[in-house]
Amino acid sequence: MNILITGGAGFIGSHVVRRFVRKYPQYRIVNLDALTYAGNPGNLRDVELLPNYTFVKGDICDFECVCSVMQQYEIEGIIHLAAESHVDRSIKDPFTFARTNVLGTLSLLEAARRYWDGRWQGRLFYHISTDEVYGSLPLDAAACTAPYGSSSFSESTPYAPHSPYSASKASSDHFVRAYHDTYGMPTLVTNCSNNYGPYQFPEKLIPLCINNICQGRPLPIYGRGDNVRDWLHVEDHARAIDTIFHRGVPGETYNIGADNEWKNIDIVRLLIRTTDRLLGRPAGTSEALITYVADRAGHDLRYAIDAGKLKRELGWAPRYCFEEGIEMTVRWYLENQAWLEEVTTGAYMNYYDAMYGQR
Ligand code: NAD
Ligand code: DAU
Repeated sequence: MNILITGGAGFIGSHVVRRFVRKYPQYRIVNLDALTYAGNPGNLRDVELLPNYTFVKGDICDFECVCSVMQQYEIEGIIHLAAESHVDRSIKDPFTFARTNVLGTLSLLEAARRYWDGRWQGRLFYHISTDEVYGSLPLDAAACTAPYGSSSFSESTPYAPHSPYSASKASSDHFVRAYHDTYGMPTLVTNCSNNYGPYQFPEKLIPLCINNICQGRPLPIYGRGDNVRDWLHVEDHARAIDTIFHRGVPGETYNIGADNEWKNIDIVRLLIRTTDRLLGRPAGTSEALITYVADRAGHDLRYAIDAGKLKRELGWAPRYCFEEGIEMTVRWYLENQAWLEEVTTGAYMNYYDAMYGQR
């Protein structure tokens, strides 16, 4: 099978590419990535020379490029992860999010429709989306520990996005379903909760805090720090994507999550404890770095995913225990300071721009 993975040089995409390239030597995996600031081929150094892996630098919004990749590599399945993914950036620059996430997804769908031309047997368009499309859940006054409320997002929860990022992802989800309902394209959509793990760009809460604790820099907590996110290890997500790609029912939507709700301030305290311990610092050293800052505009209060359908119907379950996953993640960042330095200084961009052309 020839599979196109978009956004494979990013955080989650690199874990998906690595898993597929290693586990399925019989598949050809083509990674199409524009190498925005978030794309780093260095995330795939350990698999880039394997014979079933091909990297193509290209923009999903470039319809001609996508059509020619489909044809050249005789693509049969698509796993679409390419996106602008950071909520704070979407608040500053919504157009870029609409372009990549909405028009880019449409460009891929249309290229696939034309290339497959109604021959749907053995074809699949799998779109990776987020729990943020469902909006925000309330915190129950009485719930002091997780779960923080009685409600959670199921596949039938109505869409209610609040940020430009989640609005763009919601729109792309609708386009994917429209291609299924209108043209009969075999599609899948999954909506996943917050991911953490190696290779996450250090603008997101967990890697940002690990890096800042190491450097002795402030840890910015938006608002009061009591917003709740539901965390999943990125390798559990990649394994869910593998399961759903192979066994999901076309036309269906699956939620992915680990029933692992945490208030932001509690996560930051866990990161402080873990990082200080691994660095051999006295407990509590980095507590003083906690800095409450202005809240994110439109900040969703709580996300909680009900992944019951995926567990019941496809037998997936998360494997990582959160505290262990966090410890492994902190260790990974401590042991990969060169990666962190390349990414935070932007050095990786110069290196890969020389190889693949200016971004
Ligand atoms: P990321 O920002 O780390 O990576 C995005 C990748 O897409 C980068 O490699 C980037 O170069 C590439 N890209 C961006 N614009 C492109 C374009 N126009 N053409 C081709 N490539 C382009 O993102 P991530 O956190 O790995 O998220 C991957 C996907 O998973 C996204 O669709 C996101 O919405 C979704 N998702 C993320 C999370 C999370 O917690 N990070 C949770 C649920 C769903
Ligand atoms: O829920 C899935 C989503 O998770 C994905 O779709 C997004 O692509 C991904 O970026 C992530 O979105 P969040 O906005 O939840 O992640 P982020 O790491 O940016 O923030 C996590 C929480 O921490 C959120 O409540 C905002 C807060 N925060 C974040 C940053 C960067 C802070 O308090 N301080 C910070 O500096």
